[in-house]
Amino acid sequence: VTPHSSPSFFTSFTFSDVENVNEVVNLFHNLFACAYGVVPAPRDGEEKEMMHRMLRVDHAGEYGANRIYAGQMAVLGRSRTGPLIQQMWDQEKKHLSKFNEILAENRVRPTALLPLWNLSGFVLGASTALLGKEGAMACTVAVEESISEHYNSQIRALMESDPERYTELLQVIKEFRDDEMDHHDTGLEHDAESLPGYWLLKNAIQLGCKAAIYVSQRV
Ligand SMILES: [Fe+2]
Ligand SMILES: [Fe+2]
Repeated sequence: VTPHSSPSFFTSFTFSDVENVNEVVNLFHNLFACAYGVVPAPRDGEEKEMMHRMLRVDHAGEYGANRIYAGQMAVLGRSRTGPLIQQMWDQEKKHLSKFNEILAENRVRPTALLPLWNLSGFVLGASTALLGKEGAMACTVAVEESISEHYNSQIRALMESDPERYTELLQVIKEFRDDEMDHHDTGLEHDAESLPGYWLLKNAIQLGCKAAIYVSQRV
């Protein structure tokens, strides 16, 4: 047997063999998703829809969180609490850039409400910070608890659906969930609960978070 007695896959393969261009596109998408992405190429329209909703709302949440910390820093940046807030904000920047990357890779449209979250996130962060350090921390506890619960429910859904298939995505979400829990605990450790009207403010903010999550999945 000589090395060239039978044509190898590479010499015999021509693009005329491929009748459907979509097959090539899917093949490359799968290859790159395996190599770099955390989200598997969708099997069908239903999964695509589900993943897009999920990624869209996560991106919106991280975007909003960044704006909240920006608002807190605008008011308390030069106070003694500044470095602590900056530390949490830096982690939010990492979360957001990861979701920016994931949205681009999977061609997921971000929510149309980003301009609203831009403004309302900043206003929420700045106005609670105007109540003082405790106000900012109360806001952090409320928001981070909502985001953690939201991530936990996504983790449950992905685990129930197909943990093997979503291993990488689960890893990302679990890591971020842990960061959000740390932020939540940081808020409590820095006297969030000593703010007068803490429970009222917390509940009001969490109601807003629930509404934001609801619409960001859909719009
Ligand atoms: Fe985050
Ligand atoms: Fe956070």
